Amino acid sequence: MKKTILFLLAFNFFTLNILRADEGMWLPMLLKSLNESDMQSKGLKLSAEDIYSINKSSLKDAVVQFGGGCTGEIISDKGLLLTNHHCGYGQIQAHSTVENDLLTNGFWAMNQSQELSNPGLTATFIVRMEDVTAKVLNGVTDNMNDAERDKKINEAIGVLTKEVTSSSKFGAFIRPFYYGNEYYMFVTETFRDVRLVGAPPSSIGKFGGDTDNWMWPRHTGDFSIFRIYANKNNEPADYSADNVPYKPKHVIPVSLKGAEENDFTMVYGFPGRTTEYLSSYAVNMIMNESDPAKVKIRETRLRILDEDMKGSDKVRIQYSAKYAGLANYWKKWAGEVNGLKKLDALNKKKAFEQEFQQKVNSDNAAKEKYSNLFSDFEKNYAQYSILNKQRDYYVEGILGIEAVNYALTFNETIDALVAGKTTTDLAKNIEKLKADLPAFFKDYNAATDEKICAAMLKMVSENLDKSQQADVFAEIEKKHKGDFSKFAREVYSKTIFTSEVKMIAVLNDLGKSYKKLLKDPVYLLMKSSYNKFYKDVRPDYNALDAKIALLNRTYMKGMRELMTNKKYYPDANSTLRVAYGKVKGYNPKDGVFYNYYTTLNGLIEKENPLVDEFIVSPKLKDLYLKKDYGQYADKNGELRVAFCASNHTTGGNSGSPVFNGEGQLIGTNFDRNWEGTMSDIMYNPDQVRNIVLDVRYTLFVIDKYAGAGYLLNEMKIVK
Ligand code: ARG
Ligand code: GLU
Repeated sequence: MKKTILFLLAFNFFTLNILRADEGMWLPMLLKSLNESDMQSKGLKLSAEDIYSINKSSLKDAVVQFGGGCTGEIISDKGLLLTNHHCGYGQIQAHSTVENDLLTNGFWAMNQSQELSNPGLTATFIVRMEDVTAKVLNGVTDNMNDAERDKKINEAIGVLTKEVTSSSKFGAFIRPFYYGNEYYMFVTETFRDVRLVGAPPSSIGKFGGDTDNWMWPRHTGDFSIFRIYANKNNEPADYSADNVPYKPKHVIPVSLKGAEENDFTMVYGFPGRTTEYLSSYAVNMIMNESDPAKVKIRETRLRILDEDMKGSDKVRIQYSAKYAGLANYWKKWAGEVNGLKKLDALNKKKAFEQEFQQKVNSDNAAKEKYSNLFSDFEKNYAQYSILNKQRDYYVEGILGIEAVNYALTFNETIDALVAGKTTTDLAKNIEKLKADLPAFFKDYNAATDEKICAAMLKMVSENLDKSQQADVFAEIEKKHKGDFSKFAREVYSKTIFTSEVKMIAVLNDLGKSYKKLLKDPVYLLMKSSYNKFYKDVRPDYNALDAKIALLNRTYMKGMRELMTNKKYYPDANSTLRVAYGKVKGYNPKDGVFYNYYTTLNGLIEKENPLVDEFIVSPKLKDLYLKKDYGQYADKNGELRVAFCASNHTTGGNSGSPVFNGEGQLIGTNFDRNWEGTMSDIMYNPDQVRNIVLDVRYTLFVIDKYAGAGYLLNEMKIVK
C-alpha cells in the first residue's frame, strides 16, 4: 500500500510538473499577469510595461519581423537593423555574381548612398495586439460543422481587420491560438524599403557552414546589417531615392558587458511554429515515420547537389541558398528524432494522457466532453499516417524535382486554356508566369535536376506501394524496365521546361503554344503525379486534418480545464513572443560537458584551409595573432564569438535580439543546439540551448575587420 502511494506520488510529480523551467514562448501583452514576477526573480530589471506597451515606447518598438521568416532588431535612431547572415542570405546572394561575389567577399556600404535596395524585402513592426476571441467566436456554436464554423470565423476576422485597416494606416491580421480556442489580432506597420548595409564574408558569417549548423560549440559570425527607409513623414513607402532613414520609437542600446554563466537572458522575436501539445499518436507519427522519411529523401537530394556544386562555381552560387535551406531542416529533423528518443517523449506523452484520462473519468461533466478523445486520436492517426507518408513523398520527393515543381506553376493556367476559359485571372496568371521566369532560370541547372529526377522517382517507387504510385511509374516499368536514369535522360532531352529561351517564346504566345506543353514529358510527369495526389491523397488527408484539428482543439481545452497546475503558453505561430532563461552550458552526452561560450581561439582551432566551410580569412587571422580585440575583449582579454542559453526558441527566432536584464542587447539569436531541436515538440531544460552571437564579436567584425566602424557612431554603446 505504502509502495503504491509512493509510486503514485513519484509518478504525479514527474508527469504533472510538465512545464519545465525556462520553457515557454509568451505573449508580450500577457507578461504582466503571467510572467513579470517570475522574470524579475530571475534577474529582469525592467517591468512588463518596458517590454510591451501601447502607451509609451517599449522594447517591442525595436523588434521587427524581417522578411517572411526571421526577426531583426533596431540598433540606431537611423533605422539600422541587425539580423542574421543567414536571414539576409537571399538578398546577399541576389546581389552576387561570379565577378562580384558578395557571398564570398562580404559587402560594406561605406556611406548611405552605397546601400543596396532589395525589392520585396520587408520589415514589420507590431503596433499593438488585442485579444479578439469573444468577437471572433461570437455566434460560433458546438454543433456547427467545420465549414460553417470556418465561414463564421473568417467573416468575423474580415470585419475586424477591415475596421483597423480602413480607419488607420496600419495593417492587421488575426491568428488562432491554443488550437483555435482563442484569437488575437496584431496591428502592424510594414516597411518596404529595406537596404543592405553590410555583411561579413561567408568565411565569417557562415563559418562552419552546414557541418556546424545546429551545433554547439559554435563559431559562426552569423549577422548582417540592413537599414529601414521611410518617406519624409517617417511612414512606410516603396523604394525611392528620396526616402530617408526611418526614425524608430525605440532604439536598443548595445552592451559591451557580455554574458556570464547564469545571467538572465530574454529573447524577443517571431518564433515560427511549435507543436508542444500534440497527442502521443502525433508524436509517434512524426518521430517514427515522417521525420525519418523526409530525412532520407533530403539526404539524397543534398548528395546530388553537393557533387555538382563542388564541380562548378556557377552551380555553387546558383544552389547555395537552396542547399542551405534543404540542409537546414534535414539536420533539424534528424536531431529532433534523436532528442525525442533520448527524452523518452512518447512514454512521457502517454503517461500524461493516462493522467488526463483519469481526471476525465472522475468528473461527469468532463466525461461528456473528453472521454473518447484518445481513442479518436488513435483511429484517425492510423489512417492519417498512411496518407501523410504519401504526402511526404509527393512534397519532398516529386516536388523536389525542380522542373516538375516549375511545371506545376503552369498547371492552373494550362487547365484554364484547355477548358477554353479566358477570364481576367488567366491574363494575370500568364503575367505572373512571365515575371517569375527569370528567377527560376537564374538559379537552375538542368543537368543537376535530371539526376535528382531519377533519384526521386526511384525513391518513390521503392518506398510507396504500387497502388500509391502515379500512373507514370507503370510506364517507366514497362518502357524503361524500371531504369529511372534512362527515363530521366529521355525526359530532360525532350522537355522545353528546362530551356529559358524556349519558355520565353512559349509564354509570349501561351494562348496557342500551351498545346506544345500538353505533350511535354515534364508536364506529363507533373500531371500524372499531381492527379494521383489530388485524387487519392488530398481529399482524405484534408478531411482527416480537419478532424484532428477539432480533436486538438478539444484536447487543448481539456488540458487547460483539467490539468490546472501549469501555465499554458500558446504554440509558436509566427507572432511576437518573449522567451526568457539563463546563460548556461550543458551535458550533451555521457562524460562530456560544453561550456557556455566560445572564443576566436576556438575558431582558429577549427581552421582547415582544405575545407571551404573552415577557411579563415588572412585578415581575421592577423587580428587574432595580434590579439587586436580592443574594447570587444572579455575580462580575460579573449574575444568571445558565441554563447548559449536556455531560452525556448525556434525557427523564426533567427536574428532575434537577446537582452540582458536591463534591456540592453548582448547578442543576436541564430540557432539552437542539435541535442535540443526536439524542443519544438517537447522542451527539456537540461538539453535545450539557443545559440547566440555575442554582440561584441559583431561589433569587432564591423569595426576591426570590415573597417565600417562609422556604423558604431550611430549606436548607443553601453560600456
Ligand atoms: N539552423 C539555423 C536556423 O534554423 C541556421 C540556418 C542557416 N542555414 C544553414 N544551412 N547553415 O535557421
Ligand atoms: N536558425 C533558426 C532560424 O532561422 C533558429 C534556430 C531554431 O530553430 O531555434 O530561425
